[in-house]
Amino acid sequence: VEPFELRIQSPGRILFGAGVSGRLATVVGELGGRKALLLTDQGLSRTGLPQGLCVGVAAAGIPCELYDQLAGEPDEATVDRASERFRAGRFDFVIGVGGGSALDTAKAVAALGTGGSVLAETYGKNTITREVGLVLVPTTAGTGSEATPNALFIDAHRTKQAVISPHLLPDVAVLDPSLTLNLPPRITAATGMDALAHCVESWLSVNGNALSEAYAYEGVRLVAGSLETAVANGANLEARGNMLLGSLLGGLALTIAGTTAVHALSYPLGKRGVPHGVANGLLLPRVLEFNRPASEERLAALAPAFGLPVADRAALGEAVVRRIQELLVRLPVSKTLGEVGVEAREIPAMAAESLLNERLLRNNPRSLSQEEAEGIYRRCL
Ligand SMILES: [Fe+2]
Repeated sequence: VEPFELRIQSPGRILFGAGVSGRLATVVGELGGRKALLLTDQGLSRTGLPQGLCVGVAAAGIPCELYDQLAGEPDEATVDRASERFRAGRFDFVIGVGGGSALDTAKAVAALGTGGSVLAETYGKNTITREVGLVLVPTTAGTGSEATPNALFIDAHRTKQAVISPHLLPDVAVLDPSLTLNLPPRITAATGMDALAHCVESWLSVNGNALSEAYAYEGVRLVAGSLETAVANGANLEARGNMLLGSLLGGLALTIAGTTAVHALSYPLGKRGVPHGVANGLLLPRVLEFNRPASEERLAALAPAFGLPVADRAALGEAVVRRIQELLVRLPVSKTLGEVGVEAREIPAMAAESLLNERLLRNNPRSLSQEEAEGIYRRCL
């Protein structure tokens, strides 16, 4: 029996269910919010969804202003601008609505709060606290950002930086699958592969424990069972609900166990403009194949979560990798580096960059050299 010690890190409260976003105003009021800034990205703002939530909060007597000047992956300037707006408007509450980028920005703006800090001063672990109320409302099922103490940003040197603190966890996570019904198939597929990667990587991480395994296993079961349905029939509320729960479980699992070489190898692709979920999706089966010699039994134990028959135990690890590869092939996402416009001559540089992610690579069941990282990328060409 493996001993472990765990400090529970989770959103203070989780609301899940179709329609729960209708309780947003009540939630903000219960937390003492008197003037809320709702942060979202431009793309989502065009759908009118965040405006509807903001109007609902305002109708309950809590002034709510929309700030939608977020686009793509969050960088320092974007976060600092949003933070300036928060201070200038004398807000006391942050609501984050959107995908991982919007939620990460909202987490940082709430933590920067009314103090004088800028984002660049907060990189690293346990550098911040938070006095401002924070509610997160994910509208994609992928990042699980609503359930992690991490927020990722691009710094002035175009390098990915992490802020990690339990204070980045929201007071309340509001998970309403009806908000995800209109996500286009490509976004559903890419973000869903990110959620699957979080669950599978947490399951294989050498730093997992019984709790992260429970989260990860159930997350795999939900995502593997519903991703294709959610892509093919976006209006299927049950599939959307399973995806959103799977994404939440992925966030809870990776908070404990951490992601592994899949995410380490995916960051250099993100730097080259490949969407996070697409990068993780195309890397996932290739990295698992590389990890197999060190994780065959762990992989095999995931077979039932993928709905695979467990008759032939010897071949189960391989069957799990094949199942993920088949899923990738059937989904409307890019499957190769060629399709995402990354050329073979960039591989040595990308491999070197991926090895800088020691925080993630130390969770991986197999150590990774420059040559091996290059080899994985080459199999993705
Ligand atoms: Fe991710």
